Parts: sequence; structure tokens; C-alpha cells
Amino acid sequence: MTDFKRTQSLFHLPDGVIYLDGNSLGPLPIAVAERVQCMIREQWGTELIRGWNSAGWMVQPRRIGDRVARLIGAPEGTVVIGDTLSIKVYQALAAAIQLNPDRRVILSDSGNFPSDLYMADGLLRSIDRGYTLRVLDPEAVEDAIDETVAVLMLTEVDYRTGRLHDMAALTKKAHSAGALTVWDLAHSAGAIPVDVTGAKADFAVGCTYKYLNGGPGAPAFIYVAPDHAETARPALSGWMGHQAPFAFDLDYRAGAGIERMRVGTPPVIAMAALDAALDVWDGVDMRDIRTTSIALADLFIREVEARCPELTLASPRDGTKRGSQGSFRHADGYAIMQALIARGVIGDFRAPDAIRFGFTPLYIGEAEVRAAVDVLADIVINRRWDTAEYRRKVLVT
Ligand SMILES: Cc1ncc(COP(=O)(O)O)c(C=O)c1O
Repeated sequence: MTDFKRTQSLFHLPDGVIYLDGNSLGPLPIAVAERVQCMIREQWGTELIRGWNSAGWMVQPRRIGDRVARLIGAPEGTVVIGDTLSIKVYQALAAAIQLNPDRRVILSDSGNFPSDLYMADGLLRSIDRGYTLRVLDPEAVEDAIDETVAVLMLTEVDYRTGRLHDMAALTKKAHSAGALTVWDLAHSAGAIPVDVTGAKADFAVGCTYKYLNGGPGAPAFIYVAPDHAETARPALSGWMGHQAPFAFDLDYRAGAGIERMRVGTPPVIAMAALDAALDVWDGVDMRDIRTTSIALADLFIREVEARCPELTLASPRDGTKRGSQGSFRHADGYAIMQALIARGVIGDFRAPDAIRFGFTPLYIGEAEVRAAVDVLADIVINRRWDTAEYRRKVLVT
């Protein structure tokens, strides 16, 4: 049984804050600050360039990849860390397209994160070989998988509503129609049990700054199924993915397996932060995370619906059909969220009208959920959000 009191003690959370936004940026694991300082002083400061060998900077993307692999049901040696998630989406889709060269349709849905769709659009325009990006309603995707589809590209958990796709069932259907799959696990990794092996996903990508608590701008990850590892052609063929980067050949030769999904020099300081953040997961059972996060979100939804009838539930009511978040709609959702943040209850707002709350049992319990609902109810019932200050738009919502 996971000891959530212990995990809670591993995080720094400012006094007076109830943090319900770990689905956007995880809070600071206490050990990160010390690890980063140590990396800077004792590795960069002392080892200088030697650190690439002596401190293992060069092998860090694979080593930390293996730590993330455990959380998504991937075998060792199939995940590598680096770049941003948008870049990893591009790489995965480009490789998948080339593995299915006779088809021209990329199927996705309107619940996908816009950046994934933008990256796909940019890639398809660059290839310029008559590809179509079909974006349907999430509920329409399953029936649209047919023999024209080259790649099914979806985000497992909808960033706005938390609606959860059935990765195994959709992948099975895609494979039976001869299509490959690319799954974005940004809102899944560390939030719900993920099994890319059991689901037979071809490619998966995700970020580490949300539920994995790697810090703002922490590097992303990419998984390539073992079947494709030696045949996937890297579209972003940077030197770090070369078979022998320090041979300085003028011709590119893809590195072995997942190594080829590396691009350029890894962000070593950010990797040190992520490595320390992943220590939190030692002794954590993902099934406990799932049961507890569903219970917390159910409690939140029940209480908000009872006390704030003006808010409309945007997330699936059935906890097994949601990721680890609960969202509500309100025409003045933006101002409501600003008022909440001013009172120390931090969630976020996703246009046009969704206020979004993440439930992460690593550091959130029932007391925090109940206290957050008290503040939300006061703000909504007494229209405390209705001020010019709370309506003023900030850059990041
Ligand atoms: C589902 C999903 N995909 C992709 C992205 C883009 O990630 P990045 O900004 O790291 O490229 C995000 C960002 O929040 C996301 O939530």
C-alpha cells in the first residue's frame, strides 16, 4: 500500500496554497533543489567537460528514460528523454508515417492538444505528398478507423475535460485496419496506470513537467515499440541520435534502437532535476494512485455539484472514464479561476469556459479537496469573482 503521508512530505508546497494544478506543472519535490545545486557545483563546476563521461551526462537520456518506462509499462531500453513534447510528437508521427507508406490519412480528434495537431499539420505540409489530417469528435474516432488510415494519433486523456480514451481497444482496432498508433501520454504518465506494452502502442510520447514533477520546461519522453525500434526512421536526425556521434561522419547513420530518437545535446541540469523528482515514485503503486485520485475527484465533483449549481460538469462522471482531473464549465470561468488563485486555491482555466482541477494523491488529500470546495462555493455563490481585477487577462491561464 502506498504511503501517501510519506510522499506528501517529499514535496515543497507553500503555506496557504491548495495546489490542484499538478496536471499542468507538478510542484517542487524537495530533493530537486539539492540535487540541482550538487550537479552544478560538483559536476559542472568541478568536472567541467569531463562530466559527459565521469558524471554520466551522455547516458542520462536513456537511463532516466528507463525510469519513466516503468511508469508507462514499457520495457527497459525503449524510452528516451529529451526535447519538448511537441518535438517528440513530430518525431513519432514522422516515423509512423514512414512505416506505413501506402496510406495518406492521419486520424486524430478535437480533444487532442492543439500543439499535436499543429505539429502534424506542419509535418504533412513539409512532406507534401497528399496527406490529410482528419480531426473528428472523440466519440467518432473509433468508427472512422478504416483501411485508409496510416496513423491514429491521439492524446489518451483529454487536456480540457479529462475524458479517457481506451488505448488498448483503439490500438487493437487500428492494427486490425492496418494503421499504426501514436499516443500522447502527457496527462496519463504518473496520473493513471499506463501499459504501452499491453496496449501494443506503436509510439508514445509525453512530458515530465506535469504528473512527473520534473519542473517547468522539463524534457519530454518518447517510446518506440521494440518491433519498430530498428526500422523507425528519425526525421530529426541530429548528431546525438547518430550511431557514433563522436566519429563525426558526414553521413547520418541512425543509432541503435531508441537512441535514434535523440536529437541534440541534452539539457543536463533539467535532467538532474527530473532524475531527483522521479525518486518520489519509489514505493508508489500506480493502482493506489488511481483509486485515490478517482475518490478525490469524485468527492470534489459531488461537493461542487451540490453547492455550486451554476457550474456544469465538463468531465465524465464515471471516474473510470476520466484521467486524474475534474473540470467544470462556466461562462465566467476565467474570472472564477483568478479569484480562486487569489485565495490560494490553484487550478487553471482552459478557453473557452473550463476551470480545471488536478487530483494528485502524492500530495493532495481529502482535507485539501474539502477546503478547496469551501473557497470555490464562497466565490461562486457570492459572486466574488465579479471584479475588473479578476477579469483582467494574464499571459498564461
Ligand atoms: C497533451 C499535450 N500534448 C502536447 C503538449 C505540448 O507540450 P510541449 O509544450 O512540452 O511541447 C502539451 C502541453 O501541455 C499537452 O498537454
